Amino acid sequence: MKKILVTGANGQLGRCIKDATSEFPDLQFVFVSKEELNIEEADLLNDFFKKHNFSHCINTAAYTNVEKAESEIEKAFSINAEAVKNLASTCKENGVVLLHISTDYVFDGKKASPYLETDTTNPINVYGSSKLKGEQYIEEICDRVYIFRTSWLYSQYGHNFLNTILRYAEERKPLTITTEQTGTPTNANALAKALLTVIAQEKGSYGVYHFSNSGETTWHGFAEEILRQTGKLEEVKLAKTNHYRTFAARPIYSVLDNTKARINLKIEQIDWQKSLISVLKKTVINL
Ligand SMILES: NC(=O)c1ccc[n+]([C@@H]2O[C@H](COP(=O)([O-])OP(=O)(O)OC[C@H]3O[C@@H](n4cnc5c(N)ncnc54)[C@H](OP(=O)(O)O)[C@@H]3O)[C@@H](O)[C@H]2O)c1
Repeated sequence: MKKILVTGANGQLGRCIKDATSEFPDLQFVFVSKEELNIEEADLLNDFFKKHNFSHCINTAAYTNVEKAESEIEKAFSINAEAVKNLASTCKENGVVLLHISTDYVFDGKKASPYLETDTTNPINVYGSSKLKGEQYIEEICDRVYIFRTSWLYSQYGHNFLNTILRYAEERKPLTITTEQTGTPTNANALAKALLTVIAQEKGSYGVYHFSNSGETTWHGFAEEILRQTGKLEEVKLAKTNHYRTFAARPIYSVLDNTKARINLKIEQIDWQKSLISVLKKTVINL
């Protein structure tokens, strides 16, 4: 039986993977939170892997605060690059297939059409740079690895754009949201299911893959769709801005081309608006 280690288990993707396990009764799982297994501690990692006989490791553990990373550079690189390097070495030594999650923020956003896996990376913020360094370490160390770059992840869990908009809507607070960036909101439950499908049907098609929902929008477009689908568009004042200030620069355009995952891994990506409905059904009562 395939035995899968999932790191960062209390994060939003970790929790979505836990929910998806019921659809995969033939897979065995060990979920570990940061408190149970800190991936920065190389010795702990080694001991943990020796105690178990994992076939796969899904690494959802990451430093994900894009804004704070600008001032916590060392911490971001320690978790997203150095710890990932340790994890990659531990996977390699123990014959474990690694599935690692990366980001659309490895790109600079200057392209005008969806990014391919082969496009040149050029991160414009610390978070993106630290994630790219993690990717590079993995590629140097592991042969049996899948790197999934995803974008604008949201779900029923944790601090994410969807939950922020729902909270503001509940409080009827006016919203001013940027139209400056274009990307694709991605349902973390869909990514979770895709990761487990890849493991269940493992064919050894290792490499870098893009995985997002399909279509594209702006953050303003995403907010508008959330309000529309929850019937709050009339109640909440929603304005546009094209000069929203943040510490971290963000790519103007970061839509991912999912063709490679569709062809090589037989993963179907559904439209972002349709995927949003399924998350709202888990989040909003009476929908
Ligand atoms: N969220 C997005 O919009 C987005 C977009 C593109 C790609 N991604 C990538 O998708 C993956 C999953 O993201 P997510 O949204 O699920 O992030 P998340 O909710 O922030 O979860 C990350 C988890 O990793 C844990 N963690 C941090 N440092 C750790 C360490 N040293 N050892 C073990 N665990 C550690 C965190 O614990 P604490 O909270 O206690 O620190 C948290 O539970 C990440 O690789 C992220 O870079 C996310």
